[in-house]
This record gives sequence, C-alpha cells and structure tokens, in this order.
Amino acid sequence: MQILAEAQRRQGRTIGFVPTMGFLHEGHLTLMRSAREQCDTVVASIFVNPTQFGPDEDYERYPRDEVGDRRKCESVGVDILFIPTAIEMYHSPSAVYVIVEGVSDILEGKIRPGHFRGVATVVAKLLQIVKPHRAYFGQKDYQQCIVIKRMVSGINMDVEVNILPIVRERDGLALSSRNSYLNANERRAAPAIYRALSAAEQLVRSGEKESEKLKSAVRAVLEMEPLIAIDYVEIADHESLEPLVIINDLAVILIAVHLGRTRLIDNLLLV
Ligand code: PAJ
Repeated sequence: MQILAEAQRRQGRTIGFVPTMGFLHEGHLTLMRSAREQCDTVVASIFVNPTQFGPDEDYERYPRDEVGDRRKCESVGVDILFIPTAIEMYHSPSAVYVIVEGVSDILEGKIRPGHFRGVATVVAKLLQIVKPHRAYFGQKDYQQCIVIKRMVSGINMDVEVNILPIVRERDGLALSSRNSYLNANERRAAPAIYRALSAAEQLVRSGEKESEKLKSAVRAVLEMEPLIAIDYVEIADHESLEPLVIINDLAVILIAVHLGRTRLIDNLLLV
C-alpha cells in the first residue's frame, strides 16, 4: 500500500482516503463519493480495529461482509481497497499508541476507556500507510472527528481532514453498521433518538438557551420509548466538547443510548 501510494504521489495525483470498519452503508459511500469528486485516486480501507474495542464490547461479533463491501466500493469508484489483517497492522513487538489527551477522556471516552487511544492510533497508522492528501470522516462520530483533527494538527500530519454530515434513514435514524444488531421492536423505537435531537433544535429555534432545559426535553422524548436506556445526553461546545450551561452560537448535542444489547450514538449541531 505504501509503495502504491508513493507511486500515485510521484505521478502528481492527489489521494483521497476513507477509513472504515466495513459493513458499508450509504454513510460510508457518501464519504467515498466526496473523495471521488475531489481527488485523483480514491483509497478506502476496511479494518475492524481491535484496539478501539473494550474487552466486553462487540469486536468478535462486529458485522462483516467483504464481498458486498468490495462491490459497493467499486460502485462508487474507489480505486484501491486496502484490507489489512490485525497481524499486519499490529506486528510491532512493542506497543506504540497515539494519545490525544483531554478530549479522549470525556463522553464516549469516559464510558469506553481506551477507545480513542485505539482510534487515534489506527488512524495515524492508516494515514502513514495510505499517505492521503485528504481524509474523509463522518460527523456521525462527532467526538472521533475532534480527536482526529487534534491529532492531525498536534503532530503536524500533512493531511486535510474533511468532515461530512450525518446520513440518516427516512425516519431519522443515523445509518450505522451497528443498526444491523437491532431486532424489529428495537428498530421501531430507534427513531426516537433523532426525534429527541430535533425537539432540542426546535426549542433552541424558539429561544431556549439553558442546557438543563434542553437536556430535560431530550430525555423526555427518549424516555417515552421503554426499550431505550440513556447512557448520556450532553450539550457541549462544538470544538472543546466542554459541557455548556448556556448555549452559545455553536454547540453540539450528543446522545448515547442502549437499545437492548446495542449501543447507539447520535448528535446534532445547534446553530
Ligand atoms: P466506521 O464506523 O466504519 O465509520 C467509518 C466512517 O464513516 C467514519 O468517519 C464515520 O463517522 C462515518 N460514518 C458512519 N456512519 C455515518 C453516517 N450515518 N453518516 C455519515 N458518516 C458516517 O469510525 C470508524 O469506522 C472507525 O473508528 C475508524 C475511523 C475507521 C477507525 O477505526
């Protein structure tokens, strides 16, 4: 992959890169289409990264469909599909990690210790291997985007980070590979997450600025669905992710819930 990437660069071709864990859906494909429009060579990767899963998480049962994924990548014009094995990615005899302090320890990072260390490490490694000019990520994983942007600027990586909006089902549910875990009843309950985010957005539009009031409104919508258990509802500054008491011009509302055994996250920028 490094040799291929270097050859593209020597020919003066720009490389666009979309890292994924596979089981591709329209959210991933949207990132790939943007890369296709903006770059000469499009690289996608599929790697279910063991270091970003906790010991009791779903690494073993994470959905996989390499044949379908290959077809989808071809359909959107991906030039190179990079599918390394865990042994290839982590062969080094000593453990080397990239840690983005502070923002990795709150919200998702608090509930999933070590998660963002795993994400930052694998994304750093993938960027070194694929050598892209531009890399594409989804706002769906809002905190992940912040961690990656800070890593890239913090260690002066020469890559442009592009963040694209969340792709949703018609009923508002954010697309996620993990949606495949939901049974029919859980799937019916899941759109409450987006309804809750939209309720907060409406309140902000009508002038509400107090986080506590907005969060209560969000919780009230979520609590109408007995299958949903709230992990957290937070309103935070859009860059630092520090919790806000009064919302200002750019805040983000972040939700994590459990629906049965499945953990789902979603967010909405309040502007
Ligand atoms: P994965 O969950 O497969 O997501 C790959 C990329 O697709 C991420 O940037 C994610 O934010 C984006 N994405 C997922 N669902 C989306 C949606 N509904 N709309 C828009 N974009 C969406 O995120 C990861 O993999 C991993 O942590 C990774 C970055 C590959 C590192 O292992």
